[in-house]
Amino acid sequence: MTGRIDTSAFLEALDTKYLGRDPYFLDETGSTNDWMSFRLTQPKVERLLVMAENQTMGRGRMGRSWLSRPGENLTFSLAWAMPEGLANPAVVTLAVAVALAEALEAGYAVAPVIKYPNDLLLNEKKVAGILTELKSAGEEKFAVIGVGLNVNCAQEAFAGDLGSVATSLLIETGKRATREFVLAFFLNCLEPALELLASDGLKDIMVRYRRLALPLMGREVTIQGAGDVIKGKAEGVDGHGALLVRIDDGSIISVSSGEATFHRP
Ligand code: BTN
Repeated sequence: MTGRIDTSAFLEALDTKYLGRDPYFLDETGSTNDWMSFRLTQPKVERLLVMAENQTMGRGRMGRSWLSRPGENLTFSLAWAMPEGLANPAVVTLAVAVALAEALEAGYAVAPVIKYPNDLLLNEKKVAGILTELKSAGEEKFAVIGVGLNVNCAQEAFAGDLGSVATSLLIETGKRATREFVLAFFLNCLEPALELLASDGLKDIMVRYRRLALPLMGREVTIQGAGDVIKGKAEGVDGHGALLVRIDDGSIISVSSGEATFHRP
């Protein structure tokens, strides 16, 4: 189905206590993360979700841009109050990646793989990206969780080199998905994952993360943007979400920032 999101269909499918219960569906904004960051300066932000059909300045990690496909894909942001004692927004991203992968797995019979730290791949191509940013609002700190998920765009949407690295649910399954259901189903999976994280459940989230990241382990990996370029073999992910890389001298280093390229065997 193309066209705008149907709010009633979305709310009907939503089974959360609070996440996404106050949705804003916009035709266009610069970036839903920026919209949310601004909205955090105003009252009542607890349940907020903003989704835009078009982003004129959609942002990805490492200064990249994120392209919109109005009526086809999902580009949205959520505000989540960071629990006390959870200062690191990076672990929020890990929980989001797990919930998104599990939602797609359960709802759409695909086999998502998490590419460290938070890209979702289907058949080695990126289907979703997550950008989490920490914002202060008065005394409170919020995670602004931005997600771009390619749902119903066809192969032609990915011009040039993008075609070999990006995909959509439609391309992988051959079926159009109802965006309202995809979004609601994801939030239904995300709320318990975030609650688990808030109640000291990082260890459990990491067990689930490792299963989903496992297919890329054992590969040669290059990490850029974290100071020096690091090359080695991906050995696993530690309890805090850092990638463990075995480098040339046989030692293992943990990497928690930068862009990882996993080389095909
Ligand atoms: C990445 O893969 O680098 C992260 C991409 C995150 C894109 C989403 S789309 C909704 C939200 N608003 C933005 O400007 N970015 C995120």
